[in-house]
Amino acid sequence: MGCSAHPTWVEINLEALAANVRALRQWLPARTALFAVVKANAYGHGAVEVARTALAAGAAGLCVARVAEGVALRQAGIGAPVWVLGWMAPSEAATCARFRLTPTVNSLEQARALASANSDVPLPVHVKVDTGMSRYGLLPHEVLPFVRALAAFPQLRLEGLWTHLARADEADPAPARRQVDAFRAVVRQLEAEGLSPPIHHVAASAAALHPELNSEYFQAVRVGIALYGLYPSDQVAWPVALTPVLAWKARVARVRTLPPGTPVSYGGTYVTPRTTRVALVPAGYGDGYPRALSNRGAVLIRGRRCPILGRVCMDGFVVDVSHVDGVREGDEVVLIGRQGEEGITADELAQALDTINYEVVTRIMGRVPRLYLSGERPAASE
Ligand SMILES: Cc1ncc(COP(=O)(O)O)c(C=O)c1O
Repeated sequence: MGCSAHPTWVEINLEALAANVRALRQWLPARTALFAVVKANAYGHGAVEVARTALAAGAAGLCVARVAEGVALRQAGIGAPVWVLGWMAPSEAATCARFRLTPTVNSLEQARALASANSDVPLPVHVKVDTGMSRYGLLPHEVLPFVRALAAFPQLRLEGLWTHLARADEADPAPARRQVDAFRAVVRQLEAEGLSPPIHHVAASAAALHPELNSEYFQAVRVGIALYGLYPSDQVAWPVALTPVLAWKARVARVRTLPPGTPVSYGGTYVTPRTTRVALVPAGYGDGYPRALSNRGAVLIRGRRCPILGRVCMDGFVVDVSHVDGVREGDEVVLIGRQGEEGITADELAQALDTINYEVVTRIMGRVPRLYLSGERPAASE
């Protein structure tokens, strides 16, 4: 299915993704395993294709948030290690064991459920330490007793101990260092009893790239946003050049000229002050394009910025093309990406929406087809 068959689509540049993985691999010490975070459909980029490309480019394994996300990777034929970072319901234990996913276990109830489900070789499991996110994981003083108790389950093998940093994307590395220090103290406790697992991991993209946190890699890093060519924040001079992987496009669905005084879209929140040439863009909040960009956002057509007029609807919105010569039905529209000399980044949209680039790309809905490009050539599409 080619892009022209769709009113709106997303292009995923798999070559850029592979180049980002290679750049990250070059930055990281050779001994540090890179685990590609492909949860939430690889932040909207397509989990299976991203996983395959990342593994081929040097990732050692994958991370997901949910058991079902791991199952989807296995069903696509992916055999690499898959770490499930989020909560595993005890009722999911049998699925987890059957598909050889590596869950994070933080309760005896989870451990019991996994142990009774696993009749195979011992299932690798990880334990999470809450060193400052106050979200998920055992508190530091709870870890040693829990790991001792885990040793009673021969069906499970403690492979990893990990934590997640709340503030590694800030210029000041001190808050992240405090968390890492708390984590190291737990590691030392386990080591003293010979219970420390072989893999420790703390760093997501921010700590993996932060010039002042680069002694904190341990044996693996869990990299998400950087794979996709986006940076975790604008507060740090990130040392690795990355290329955005995702572009969001559409085709002009209609062009017309409105006389002065014409209200546009729901609520008539925009009224043309003069004769205005407008184009209809067939993408809306039903595709994940934020309604909050009503009367605020812009798109690119023929290399020019065209402001949004009135409200973004579920399936479309209207833009001003009065200043652009020759706009025609079928012209390419860029919602995120480059066209000619101009560009609209996920960061620009995030700033306008008071959110983060992560949310901008992750919220693009499943109904928007993903077209996978290798360089300039279409590879496959869904
Ligand atoms: C536990 C955990 N590790 C790693 C990541 C990847 O983070 P990033 O996309 O900033 O690299 C996430 C993402 O939210 C996460 O929740």
